[in-house]
Amino acid sequence: MGAPAAGPAVTHSILMDVDTGIDDALALVYLLSRPEVHLQAITCTAGNIGARQVALNNLALLQLCGREGIEVAIGAEVPLEIPLVTTEETHGPQGIGYAELPPPHQQISARHAVDVWVEEVRAHPGEITGLVTGPLTNFALALRREPELPRLLKGLVIMGGSFYYQGNTTPTAEWNTSVDPHAAKEVFAAYRGMPEDKLPVLCALEMTERIEMHPEHLRRLGEAAGAPEPELVLPEQPEGQRSQSGNPLVACLSDALRFYMEFHRLYDQGYVAHVHDAFAACAAAGRTPFTTRLATVDVETDSPLLMGTTVADFRGLWGLAPNARIVSDNNPEHCFDELISSVGALARAVGHGSSTP
Ligand code: BDR
Ligand code: CA
Repeated sequence: MGAPAAGPAVTHSILMDVDTGIDDALALVYLLSRPEVHLQAITCTAGNIGARQVALNNLALLQLCGREGIEVAIGAEVPLEIPLVTTEETHGPQGIGYAELPPPHQQISARHAVDVWVEEVRAHPGEITGLVTGPLTNFALALRREPELPRLLKGLVIMGGSFYYQGNTTPTAEWNTSVDPHAAKEVFAAYRGMPEDKLPVLCALEMTERIEMHPEHLRRLGEAAGAPEPELVLPEQPEGQRSQSGNPLVACLSDALRFYMEFHRLYDQGYVAHVHDAFAACAAAGRTPFTTRLATVDVETDSPLLMGTTVADFRGLWGLAPNARIVSDNNPEHCFDELISSVGALARAVGHGSSTP
């Protein structure tokens, strides 16, 4: 368990489950940059990359940000019922694009991720906000063990799904749901009938693809970090070029995000990066505006054609209680201003050998 950050009073305890992942990395660094956020622990699910590599990435990022001591635990190494598929093509050979970080000193926790969720949430009822930016495997297993988890959590924010919007893994399915559709189905079933303020806030593709990072955002990040040279990640540069930044956090994020931009360009989306998980992190921290719409959500797990597709009933046609609050509007400009100023301040502090922004 990590110690609360010094400085301003901690007002948000967040327990995150991730599959780091380039945008998970940005989400983690962002939460580390928030003085009012206490990261209760970080649990790791297999998804973008295997769970062990996810844990090593998280530990290396904590070390880079001078925040060792926060517990990093591994959970499920495979989805509940189907074989694991990872996506090195999207996130790079180690999950963080072209970034290469030194091996972390801190060990992976001896606790299983499911124990972390159940024990931490029971120990701090009503205090912890859950944030899941990978497949829902660990969270579904935690729910099996502690069905009261939805009431014990202060709230839950999930990046996953796509609602009446094209998928990014199959024509209709989003990646996190596609990797473990059975887990997602179980989680939504468990939330049926829960009080509205406990229902998960779902950050799905139709909103997270609006959080489109451009080279200009990286230039602004370098500037916010006080880097002497402009941070230039440009479409005309050779693929795989590495950052020359003297600021290690700027260099890491720049090398990671360059890979993500090249991947998006490969799929005709332009030289941009959709930083889905960073939006979910800002939402969990209560630092960016959004609106939600109540819905009953279910996940297809039988049809080979539609496996992992998320369906939202907004009209009560199924006659089932709502189980999610789907983000229906967000403000990308606000979100990027928040990410850049906050991560920039942390990078500035890291560059000066101190991690307290
Ligand atoms: C989600 O899939 C992953 O590749 C990203 O990290 C994000 O969590 C977007 O579909
Ligand atoms: Ca992710």
